[in-house]
Amino acid sequence: MFSSKIYKSWREIQFEKFDNIFEKLRKLGLDLGKLVLDAGSGNGFLKEYLKAHDVDVEVVALDVDLEILLENSSDYKVLGDANFTPFKRGVFDAIFCIDVAHLLKRLDTSPLKSSGLLVIAVPYRFKERINSLKVDAEKVFEFVSDGREKEYVKIFQR
Ligand SMILES: C[S@@+](CC[C@H](N)C(=O)[O-])C[C@H]1O[C@@H](n2cnc3c(N)ncnc32)[C@H](O)[C@@H]1O
Repeated sequence: MFSSKIYKSWREIQFEKFDNIFEKLRKLGLDLGKLVLDAGSGNGFLKEYLKAHDVDVEVVALDVDLEILLENSSDYKVLGDANFTPFKRGVFDAIFCIDVAHLLKRLDTSPLKSSGLLVIAVPYRFKERINSLKVDAEKVFEFVSDGREKEYVKIFQR
């Protein structure tokens, strides 16, 4: 668990990562669809970012930490574990897992639709952890987001 007050100061750093991720998705011609799972959502910076950029999607926030989830402004909030999510198979158009994968034993991608988009990002020092994570989707692209926090990003499609 970490202090949500301290974590809020990371908003700008996270937004910078999202800028780079969404620029890459645009260049690759990959669309978010309508329903997005934010696995390990924390305060909900992803939802805030999408709202600030007028992206018309519904975001389901999943996190193990109730306190942090209560501060999250996502459309739907679920207290749960990204290792074994409580969702039906094939319901989400996209799953985002930002700065969480290094904390997981596995990432449950079963709720992702066929041809759905999966974006996993971790601080660069955890690059090997993300590479050893087994996910049920094909890698489309990987890159390093060189902002204030160097981030390793992998984009998959189911
Ligand atoms: C570093 S924060 C990242 C938050 C958010 N993704 C972002 O980019 O701002 C990591 C989050 O993952 C959550 N978390 C850790 N283990 C988890 C698990 N097994 N399932 C779901 N969430 C988890 C933590 O509670 C925390 O909110």
